[in-house]
Amino acid sequence: MSLPRLCIVATGGTIAGVGARPQATQAYAAAALDVAGLCATVPGLGEVARIAAEQFAAIDSKNATPAFWQSLAARLQQLLDDPGVDGVVVTHGTDTLEETAYYLHLVLKTDKPVVMVGAMRPATALSADGPLNLLDAATVAAAPGAAGRGVLVTLNHQIFGAREVAKTNANRPDAFASPNAGAMGLVQDGRVTWLARPERPHTASTPFTAATPLAPVEVVAGYAGGSAALIEAVPATGAHGLVWAGPGNGSASNEALAALERLCGAGLAVVRASRTGSGCVAASGRLPGAGTLSPWKARVLLMLVLGAGAEGTQAVQTAFDTY
Ligand code: SIN
Repeated sequence: MSLPRLCIVATGGTIAGVGARPQATQAYAAAALDVAGLCATVPGLGEVARIAAEQFAAIDSKNATPAFWQSLAARLQQLLDDPGVDGVVVTHGTDTLEETAYYLHLVLKTDKPVVMVGAMRPATALSADGPLNLLDAATVAAAPGAAGRGVLVTLNHQIFGAREVAKTNANRPDAFASPNAGAMGLVQDGRVTWLARPERPHTASTPFTAATPLAPVEVVAGYAGGSAALIEAVPATGAHGLVWAGPGNGSASNEALAALERLCGAGLAVVRASRTGSGCVAASGRLPGAGTLSPWKARVLLMLVLGAGAEGTQAVQTAFDTY
């Protein structure tokens, strides 16, 4: 049986990071190694799949922008539309990987496997996690059962769904988790074990594409003693929407709530989310709730929903209940 044909699309990050010393795991230059160098660190890649590789970008993912998401999605869509490509692996910095993953999960029109991967230690570190993470990601993309699950994220032997995954630790190789849903699968010693499927519509089942405009949306956090000044400042930034990253159940102080409701009444799309990292925020009063989406992913969805022309709190809540 012939091996599947995978394209590795490199965008930068710590997985391509280079440090001055083998013990340097925090002080290093991200995105320094090119895709050929990255693949050369992974013995056995060619036994998993027939590999093509391309350098799409070389950025630290803290510098990713909505324009980067759109151009990456457009390139991935070209690759996925190619009958000579069976699946794609995207190497990416871990800092904003979850935002890019959820965006791609909503806009790519494909059933083919798309697996994102990063690393917490640079390629030059002792015990670098990137090479095995990349081999695992290719193994997942080549695995029976990977198709039709939307965008997947593989690190530290675990496979996560793009909607639920979050970076939950700043330093350690086990930095990724899906606090609400758990892992979608495991990959170990070249074997993939599936545990779950995505519950919500994604990829080919959404109306969004790489060409859907992204409306500007800001995130404002709630904390003890915070004033309403930052909320009030949002319309002047040109934003069409605001995600409230509130404590607990997306709650807001009396002052903050009054400001959020006033801006909502004036036509700004406001969505309440929780800064806790897990749980579910239901609609309350006139303000839509983000459900189980983190504030950062709620922003991605709101950008797409508003960009696609949705108007009014009911349309926004319906989108959050759906995706
Ligand atoms: C980045 O997000 O590009 C740097 C940090 C990392 O990849 O872990």
